[in-house]
Amino acid sequence: MPHWWQSAVIYQIYPRSFQDSNGDGIGDLPGIISRLDHLVELGVDAVWISPIYPSPMADFGYDVADYQNIDPLFGSLTDFEALVAGLHRRDLKLILDFVPNHTSTEHEWFRASRASRQDPKRDWYIWRDGGPNGEPPNNWLSEFGGPAWSWDEVTQQFYYHAFLADQPDLNWRNPEVQAAMFDVMRFWLARGVDGFRVDAIHLLIESEALLDNPPNPAWHAGKSPARRLLRVHTADQPETHSMIGAMRRVADEFSDRVLIGEVSMPIERLMNYYGEALQGFHLPFNFHLLSTPWQASAIAALIRQYEAALPPGGWPNWVLGNHDRSRLLSRVGGIAQARLAAMLLLTLRGTPTIYYGEEIGMGDVQIPPECVQDPWERNVPGLGLGRDPCRTPMCWTSRPGVGFTDGVPWLPVGERFAQFNVADERKDPASFLSLYRSLLRLRRGERALSLGTYRERWADSRSLVYERIDGARRLLVALNFSDQAYAVQELDGPLRVILSTHVGRGKQSRWPVVLEAHEGIVAEL
Ligand code: NOJ
Repeated sequence: MPHWWQSAVIYQIYPRSFQDSNGDGIGDLPGIISRLDHLVELGVDAVWISPIYPSPMADFGYDVADYQNIDPLFGSLTDFEALVAGLHRRDLKLILDFVPNHTSTEHEWFRASRASRQDPKRDWYIWRDGGPNGEPPNNWLSEFGGPAWSWDEVTQQFYYHAFLADQPDLNWRNPEVQAAMFDVMRFWLARGVDGFRVDAIHLLIESEALLDNPPNPAWHAGKSPARRLLRVHTADQPETHSMIGAMRRVADEFSDRVLIGEVSMPIERLMNYYGEALQGFHLPFNFHLLSTPWQASAIAALIRQYEAALPPGGWPNWVLGNHDRSRLLSRVGGIAQARLAAMLLLTLRGTPTIYYGEEIGMGDVQIPPECVQDPWERNVPGLGLGRDPCRTPMCWTSRPGVGFTDGVPWLPVGERFAQFNVADERKDPASFLSLYRSLLRLRRGERALSLGTYRERWADSRSLVYERIDGARRLLVALNFSDQAYAVQELDGPLRVILSTHVGRGKQSRWPVVLEAHEGIVAEL
């Protein structure tokens, strides 16, 4: 019997940007609750919400000041309970973001830790003396620019932070930290949460010797300054896996919960995150579609490589967008390509994650300098590292506040909403939303798509053709990545086209099948 998270489609909500209910320009939990029927209509199965805990919002919630409450900006624990109930009533699952690597400097643990060297919580964070000339303990760099060590005047030591200085790293070598964080997991699991997306897990532990990271020969100006060094001593340390195993045991104290890891790693190393005997993450996020050239043979090769690398019984997953990356539409070059990408994502073998707004064809929104919010863009301006463009408000209507807020939205809404918004797209059979709904309906109704095997039929520089198979049921997916018509190579036996990215095609039931530019089809064989 497969687990729910194998056949599920996950939908990521960035809570600041989904729906505002009180006119402050920032999305909140009552807002999300008021939009649950959109998710039902869309046809997804689970919702992952980026952090909603009390936070000074230096990194928009990824700087947690209290793991066991809700930030008043988003609502209250009572709203949270209503959200869980509303989702479960609709047969939707809830996945929360768990941020174990670091807290906010405002967390009471860090306040205690920085108060004196003798404080019982001193060792909950990573404190070190500087060098003889007052320099940081080593050359480690913060992901968001500058050194990864900040000086603390009061106790005259440096503390380590993989991200902002406002996000001190917890010391996971300390068993008290482990126990406290496992209790945080239990707190939410006991409140009905169906699983966690675990933040920045590959950075959880650093080498104890604090050796300098070596230079990265592939770095060049224009890339993130943090990539000047290879993260040999700060990422993917072997001890991380025993911590993930322990997190998994906590999740397993409850029935049928899922653990998803945010792991940015090459495929071979990513596979270790399934854990020994699959006792690690159920789903270590597979981000490789985000960085593979948008070209049929490159994508075919990626699928082949990923499928071949999976450990026995390991369940695949695919991601095309999230709150850290440029939106799909802006990456792949246009509407037709983004529609084709949707068909790819929702017909591949493995759990797909849809980023909010992709279902209506939202693209990156250009952010004028005076509106920049993301601390990364502020620290390292001008390199295009900022993540505001992909975090703009969900467009519900074509009215000025886009149906998101009655106030001033925290980020600009861009221009596309006039055409690309939920209200208008619901009525238009040729819209993104209609395509996503059709794809999701098909996936839900077809075991071959949700749980069947994957078999590549052929791939060349222009097209990718594969089958999804469940017993006698065979579905053919043919994707034309090129801007010219493409004749699908004829297969034995009859076929019937059941869905196309192009609305005009109809239910063709005969060979030959000639795909239009950027067209994708699903056909029964
Ligand atoms: C990864 C999250 O996705 C990103 O948004 C955040 O800034 C960092 N981790 C730090 O928590």
